[in-house]
Amino acid sequence: MHKKTFYITTPIYYPSDKLHIGHSYTTVAADAMARFKRLTGHQVHFLTGTDEHGQKIERQAQQAGKQPQAFVDEIVTWIKRLWDIFDISADDFIRTTEERHKISVQKIFQKFYEQGDIYKSKYEGWYCTPCEAFWTERQLAEKNCPDCKRPVELVTEESYFFRMSKYTDRLMEYIEKNPGFIQPVSRKNEMINNFLKPGLEDLCVSRTSFSWGIPVPFDPAHVIYVWLDALSNYITALGYLSDDQSKMQTFWPADVQLIGKEIVRFHTIYWPIFLMALGLDLPKQVFGHGWLLLEEGKMSKSKGNVIDPEVLIDRYGSDAIRYFLLREIPFGADGHFSETALIQRLNFDLANDLGNLLNRTLAMLNKYFAGRVPTPGKREALDLELSGMALALPDVMEQLMDQLQFSGALTELWKFIGRANKYIDETAPWALAKAGSQERLATVMYNLLESIRIVSVLLLPFMPRTPERIWQQLGIAGEADILSWESIRQFGVIPSGTQTVAGSEVLFPRLELTEEGGAPVRQATKKDKPLAVAKEAPRVEEAEGLISIEDFGRVDLRIVEITAAQKIEGADKLLKLTVSLGKEERQVVAGIAKHYEPESLLGKRVLFVANLKPAKLRGLRSEGMLLAAADEQGNLVLVTTEKPISSGSKVK
Ligand code: MSP
Repeated sequence: MHKKTFYITTPIYYPSDKLHIGHSYTTVAADAMARFKRLTGHQVHFLTGTDEHGQKIERQAQQAGKQPQAFVDEIVTWIKRLWDIFDISADDFIRTTEERHKISVQKIFQKFYEQGDIYKSKYEGWYCTPCEAFWTERQLAEKNCPDCKRPVELVTEESYFFRMSKYTDRLMEYIEKNPGFIQPVSRKNEMINNFLKPGLEDLCVSRTSFSWGIPVPFDPAHVIYVWLDALSNYITALGYLSDDQSKMQTFWPADVQLIGKEIVRFHTIYWPIFLMALGLDLPKQVFGHGWLLLEEGKMSKSKGNVIDPEVLIDRYGSDAIRYFLLREIPFGADGHFSETALIQRLNFDLANDLGNLLNRTLAMLNKYFAGRVPTPGKREALDLELSGMALALPDVMEQLMDQLQFSGALTELWKFIGRANKYIDETAPWALAKAGSQERLATVMYNLLESIRIVSVLLLPFMPRTPERIWQQLGIAGEADILSWESIRQFGVIPSGTQTVAGSEVLFPRLELTEEGGAPVRQATKKDKPLAVAKEAPRVEEAEGLISIEDFGRVDLRIVEITAAQKIEGADKLLKLTVSLGKEERQVVAGIAKHYEPESLLGKRVLFVANLKPAKLRGLRSEGMLLAAADEQGNLVLVTTEKPISSGSKVK
């Protein structure tokens, strides 16, 4: 059978400086998508590369005292290594300084000229070199570039122009008729209202005031405008206008072109118009994702607030960084990066949820079945609920991935991990072992192992290294038949008798914030002290639902005095309280309104969890939790002290 194809691209990067963690975002997302499509049986072509020409690069090379080619070669080598350590599985890496690209771009330019889309005239207007973009006087923002807000330069030179105006109506019509073409929708509206409706001016597509670019074939005093050069990479890499058209035939039009939001205009106006002029189909979807920001705004070299991805990978491992980028930020929206948020994700999602599921399961399997996968008995309702959820997961995740909802897909996977952890608590294998219910115990353990197998396969596109480590422990590494997309459509394929290896390795050690932890990260460099250190490996007792004294010690329990209490409009269960810890006051939202009148609470001293992550309830910040006891009849009473003691006292 002929395989379905999938062509995905990232922008090609300027090799003007080392890339920061924000740059990695597009490529990590594209890689997760490419891997997901390969998993589901597509013939994938995943393209990335470098955008090496133009005035910006020429100037930077000059400043570095190097020839442009030598200057970019060095950085491109670094970029390729970065993608290697990020496990980017690109099928091709195109450099715009390669012959295959340059020849094809010259042919494209020639074709435009011969068919009358390009004419020679004189350009007088503004140019933003960092963005490599032309602007008209009326488009400027207080005399600066409307995109990056940096100063623009006045350019007066003889140039070739592309007749954009000729294609405006066709493009408008195309965008209206193909609502999926520009995603998310907000970006589509912006393009229509801000650029297409006011009318497109013809675009200057050659420059004469510098020379680092591809020469116009019939007029070599001109170099081709860097965006026409760069955008063409998506087809020159497929061999467009070369002797071998096979890749063009197989993969064009692209299925998804991922880009950051600041370059949407180039990809949804210029690019489709060039393609129309070439008589080629337009990509099925151009997706403009949001930015990864720091507390103080966008990362940029000039602000000196870049985060070096190599340093982060060194500290936390590439899978963990990939997980954070894909999980933390809904694709399309802007999101914040901080090392503290990263550490929290690692601890909660990877060490606790995923790591514990594996550790608990394998530790119990070791104890009760000498680490051998047992033969399951009959499945009960609880088991069917678990297996039903596992079997629905591939489709649910595939649908979300088709909408580029990486975070949504991972959330679904983690819901299932959570369900499997709860299944351990509900079935209490330690109690089954004590009661001698061998068959039931075997079924429960088997179902847990199957759940982990399915999770590990679905994890593969997002965290390509971790599944292998799980399979080693499960004793199924290399068993392609039970690690494929088809195999996770079945529940019950791990062979009984397989020997697992418990506790051979902790997947993700818990990290403890050091004293500096919590401060926003400005510039992560190799010399910085890490914000977190690995904690000791979790103990086997955890498998049986027991916690250690150290675990208990992590809860900061205090006595607090309630100093204010009031009802919250529209929330009949909640009260807004102020509590005093002696030296400090906190606002808490508590679900006790059905049990206490606000006034009756004033002056009460109660037990309080002081280091709970703050949450927002009904838009109100809640910084901690009051402890209350609840019985089966639904009565609820706050826990107070036996004798008065000052507020803020520690409970040990
Ligand atoms: N060379 C052009 C693209 C040409 S494509 C035909 C370019 N290069 S870039 O190196 O400046 O940016 C590459 C990608 O990184 C872009 O998609 C850009 O949006 C993305 N990012 C750069 N900084 C970013 C963040 N802080 N956050 C998320 N993505 C960011 O533009």
